[in-house]
Amino acid sequence: MPKIYSELASWYHLLTAPKDYADEAEFARNTIVEASASPVKTVLELGAGGGNNASHMKSAFTMTLTDLSPSMLDQSRRINPECDHIAGDMRTLRLGREFDAVFVHDALTYMITRDDVLQSMQTALVHCRPGGVALFMPDYVRETFVSGVHHGGHDGDGRSLRYFEWTYDPDPSDTTYTIDFVLLLREGNSPVRVEHDHHVNGLFSRRDWLDCLRETGFRSSRMIEDPYSREVFVATR
Ligand SMILES: C[S@@+](CC[C@H](N)C(=O)[O-])C[C@H]1O[C@@H](n2cnc3c(N)ncnc32)[C@H](O)[C@@H]1O
Repeated sequence: MPKIYSELASWYHLLTAPKDYADEAEFARNTIVEASASPVKTVLELGAGGGNNASHMKSAFTMTLTDLSPSMLDQSRRINPECDHIAGDMRTLRLGREFDAVFVHDALTYMITRDDVLQSMQTALVHCRPGGVALFMPDYVRETFVSGVHHGGHDGDGRSLRYFEWTYDPDPSDTTYTIDFVLLLREGNSPVRVEHDHHVNGLFSRRDWLDCLRETGFRSSRMIEDPYSREVFVATR
């Protein structure tokens, strides 16, 4: 488990702030509504993390937010107290109920084998009512992956975080890439603390995503581009 989702989870909203997710959340909300033949009221999110997307989507849907990390769910509860929060692995979660739609955003990138991807899709399928929609938004497909660096961060109440992020694929023949973060953590005027956080993420081709959706048993699936030209996948049960 990366540090930012466990021991450093209380810093998460200073790494990536809820307000920065407005465009992606609007895209997800519109895509789910447009893809569904009937009104969407209930949405299950797998890997909801700090609840940034949900903070924008909850005005349109009743959202159930799930994540592997109890510490991340605590962060989401702070900004989304009206949503249900449930700890669980998106590969094995079984809530025993169906939703109008299932949403999986960037947490999907922690599926690093084809089997992981299939399991997470199976979880989405069994929680999606017949005719319901599932939206899968990986950060990259193999065809569009580019190594790169980013930096950013935010100021909070007596705390500030700045980061440098290096995305890199050490072995283009396998299904993973890496992200290394250097996190600079400032509390009050104390000296800055520096943490290294290493993430291993999955990388699959467009064809793999569509094949996996079909193998899982979704009735139809297609690729569409999000506002940042990333390839994402919409499926119907
Ligand atoms: C980048 S964060 C998600 C942020 C989220 N998109 C938001 O709006 O705040 C990635 C999340 O994936 C979660 N995660 C990683 N592996 C998972 C798994 N197998 N099942 C469920 N959640 C997982 C992590 O705990 C982390 O909270």
